[in-house]
Amino acid sequence: MQSDHLPHLSVLVLHGPNLNLLGQREPGVYGDTTLDNINSLLDQKGKKLQAKVSSFQSNQEGVLVEAIQEAVGYHHGIVINAGAYTHTSVAIRDALSAIKLPTVEVHLSNIYQREAFRHHSYIASVSLGQISGFGAESYLLGLEALVSHLRRS
Ligand code: DQA
Repeated sequence: MQSDHLPHLSVLVLHGPNLNLLGQREPGVYGDTTLDNINSLLDQKGKKLQAKVSSFQSNQEGVLVEAIQEAVGYHHGIVINAGAYTHTSVAIRDALSAIKLPTVEVHLSNIYQREAFRHHSYIASVSLGQISGFGAESYLLGLEALVSHLRRS
């Protein structure tokens, strides 16, 4: 199929707590790319993939839960970096499980090379897969993986 004939997909990218500080926050761990940079890279990548990308960041768990619930009917899938909530939030996990939109979990750092408390993800069991450790590129790989999954299904 010619890519210019593909229908547009809509993808929601969710960024969890403290990711608004990217660029200044522990650059040795998270790199020096800002959240705005990541969002515009996602936008460009989305255009190439013919997918509309909407990005949203919140430091609050309940706000992220609401954004997940409200994605139904507007988006075909979700890319999520839940930040620290990855390791703590049954509520975010349950929201993803309830709405059943295909989801890809991403992390800038390799969470398995870090402290033991980061090794468990509540999001992993309700995701298609996880991409961890490639810096800002993790988001782009996640978007690509999600869009090819959506195009196949
Ligand atoms: C993170 C990893 C989490 O453990 C941490 O709490 C974050 C960012 C990452 O992208 O590497 O806030 O999700």
